[in-house]
Amino acid sequence: MSEISAFDPDRYKAFERDGWRRSSGEYHDLFGSGTAQAAGPLLDAVNAGAGTRLLDVACGPGIVSGAAAARGCSVLGLDFATGMLAQARERYPEIEFREGDAEDLPLKDASFEAVVCNFGMNHIPRAERAVAGVFRVLSPGGRYAFTTWSPGSAQYRLVNEAVQAHGDPDVPLPEGPDRTLFSDPGLCKALLAGAGFEDAEVAEIPIVLKCTGPEHLIDIIYKSTVRTRALLEAQSLPARGKINRAIAEAARGFEKDGTLEIPMPAVMVSARKP
Ligand SMILES: C[S@@+](CC[C@H](N)C(=O)[O-])C[C@H]1O[C@@H](n2cnc3c(N)ncnc32)[C@H](O)[C@@H]1O
Repeated sequence: MSEISAFDPDRYKAFERDGWRRSSGEYHDLFGSGTAQAAGPLLDAVNAGAGTRLLDVACGPGIVSGAAAARGCSVLGLDFATGMLAQARERYPEIEFREGDAEDLPLKDASFEAVVCNFGMNHIPRAERAVAGVFRVLSPGGRYAFTTWSPGSAQYRLVNEAVQAHGDPDVPLPEGPDRTLFSDPGLCKALLAGAGFEDAEVAEIPIVLKCTGPEHLIDIIYKSTVRTRALLEAQSLPARGKINRAIAEAARGFEKDGTLEIPMPAVMVSARKP
């Protein structure tokens, strides 16, 4: 991806916000069964149980918030996309959801015992600011855990290979944070230690995205992502047709008992506030 200007965090954040507004309506039904697979490991990593005051940052349609409430946690879900919040409120009317920016949490110091962020960190341009905010709102002894997609995710590979073969990987797009930042356990631990966290751990979660067929996968890619969709929509129409066909063809390699099982491992990072 080439740069059309120097990395401008606010410009990138506006690009993400617009993208998630567009995706709000279909995200849950298309992709929710994939991201939900990280909910259990995330909640275990922050010791979420009955009565835990838990914040779900970048909550989207409330998938992890709902799982935390089912464990008896007292949950606040926060996201900056109003459409996502509308979905979350409809699905989980008993949970409080609030509009807010993960880089500038509109919350009191030491007001939560646990904070989770499921596939949100890789969309936030200033990760250090987001992590510092989480540290501030956690009470002493509180735990933080977040997930991001591993670069080994087959969905990324299918898209990247198809764009390399049939399109232009260097179409101008808003420059964003490095997508591979969180694949380096050392960098993750340094990010958390820099904010004051202790005992950082990095683990892999073996997520498998089940799709009814190649068209379903292509729908997920175009309607449940922001950067990837922008990369594909910036291609010429003929190139996009070839790319879609190449993704569909390669996806057939993941067929199992009439469905596609796409391996999308996630990286989970967790730590404790002293
Ligand atoms: C991939 S979705 C993850 C949604 C949900 N956590 C899940 O488990 O499926 C990313 C979410 O991050 C939100 N988001 C991205 N940047 C944000 C920011 N700076 N502040 C708050 N929410 C943000 C988006 O609106 C979107 O709902």
